[in-house]
Amino acid sequence: MREEELERDTSPVSVLFVCLGNICRSPLAEGVFRGLIRDAGLEDRFEIDSAGTSGYHDGGSADPRTIEVARRRGITLDSVSRRVTVSDLKRFDRILAMDNDNIAELKRFAAQVGVDAPIRMLREFDVEAAGDLEVPDPYYGGGRGFERVQEIVERSCGGLLDEIRRERGW
Ligand code: 4NP
Repeated sequence: MREEELERDTSPVSVLFVCLGNICRSPLAEGVFRGLIRDAGLEDRFEIDSAGTSGYHDGGSADPRTIEVARRRGITLDSVSRRVTVSDLKRFDRILAMDNDNIAELKRFAAQVGVDAPIRMLREFDVEAAGDLEVPDPYYGGGRGFERVQEIVERSCGGLLDEIRRERGW
């Protein structure tokens, strides 16, 4: 084995996707990212989860429209909604927010509990974001909103995985 292979960091990278309700955008991002790492044969190098800044849907499954849009791409969503916790802020290597309200709430929470958490916007990794870093909330809209979220999340998760692989030298 070459020297750089021996030095390669193969410890798991933990990634948490966060939206408001944890029933639409973040479960979809979690499912899409799981699909990408499965296809890349990197499942054992990641710990993936999702959570919401609110507790509105605690214990509930993903929205049926989210489940359907994922199903059409061969992704099964079985997440259970939960609110983000202090231990999430301490534990995850990367915390990805879906919109400006989510990131503001996460940063407010992190400051309140004194944790320097690695919080960023998921769309920072979307090559087509063109300055708009929000994954739009599809909850009160029609089915097309979920399709659009799916497309944004696919591009963003692809970009995120590319960056992590570059960083780790995988
Ligand atoms: P999410 O969408 O944050 O992407 O899960 C929403 C889900 C529920 C509500 C709002 C947004 N809600 O107001 O109940």
